[in-house]
Amino acid sequence: MKKNEAERVALVTGGARKLGASVCRHLAGQGYRVVINYRTSRAKAEALAEKIRGRGGQAMPCQADVTRERDVRRMIDRVKRSFGRLDVLINNVGDYLEKPLARVSTKEWEVIIQSNLTSAFLCSKEALPLMRKKKEGRIVMIGYAPAGKLAASPRCAVYHLAKTGALILAKSMAVEEAPHGITVNMISPGTIFNSVKKPSGTASDYIPAGRFCRYADLLGMLDYLLSEEAAYVTGGHFVVSGGYAI
Ligand SMILES: NC(=O)c1ccc[n+]([C@@H]2O[C@H](COP(=O)([O-])OP(=O)(O)OC[C@H]3O[C@@H](n4cnc5c(N)ncnc54)[C@H](OP(=O)(O)O)[C@@H]3O)[C@@H](O)[C@H]2O)c1
Repeated sequence: MKKNEAERVALVTGGARKLGASVCRHLAGQGYRVVINYRTSRAKAEALAEKIRGRGGQAMPCQADVTRERDVRRMIDRVKRSFGRLDVLINNVGDYLEKPLARVSTKEWEVIIQSNLTSAFLCSKEALPLMRKKKEGRIVMIGYAPAGKLAASPRCAVYHLAKTGALILAKSMAVEEAPHGITVNMISPGTIFNSVKKPSGTASDYIPAGRFCRYADLLGMLDYLLSEEAAYVTGGHFVVSGGYAI
């Protein structure tokens, strides 16, 4: 993406809180007009948009359940009517589930697959026409460090396979969309500092780098993937985990 282009638009799914909110603030600080998608956290999305505007940026909260095709279509249609373009899509939504398979209900299975995989498919698919029109676009999936591993994942299988599915989605879309100037990559965190489900409260117990993942670690990788220099980088899986699960 051209650094100084003031008109660029970025959509962040699940952008009202936590990592998504950090990405919204970061991109707004770089001059992107940011669409803050939320499902239920309306007050948080509006407060974040106000904060961004207070710092001279532009932000638009947009409600949509990204697992629902109709909602996603409505959201992308709003982006189209408001800005006429979409340069960056961050597929950040992805609920976590930790449970042995024997206790996973069909409903839980569906929720995790829809949250991590179907949402990324729907949002990316609906975003493509806007990106193709400009012959340029960047799609970034937020994954999970072990996503590239074909391995057993006791107590975490459904989440793992949904993220692995999202990685195959990213790679396949990367190949299909390269002729249209669109890159698709995945950034995979290990354990983020504020995660409620950590294998241990002490990072050095299992993370070689000895600390949990900070937002800045992920934002640095995101900056690279959105830079002009990364126009040729697509279908990549970028694990940002301090050496955990590589
Ligand atoms: N936390 C970690 O340690 C960790 C580690 C590896 C990977 N990740 C991945 O990193 C990403 C962000 O995780 P996080 O822990 O920062 O946030 P999170 O707790 O997973 O949730 C962030 C937001 O996602 C939104 N959301 C959930 N389902 C949605 C839907 N169907 N439609 C629209 N929005 C929806 C929620 O919005 P509302 O509040 O508006 O309902 C919530 O604010 C996820 O993909 C996660 O799998 C996280």
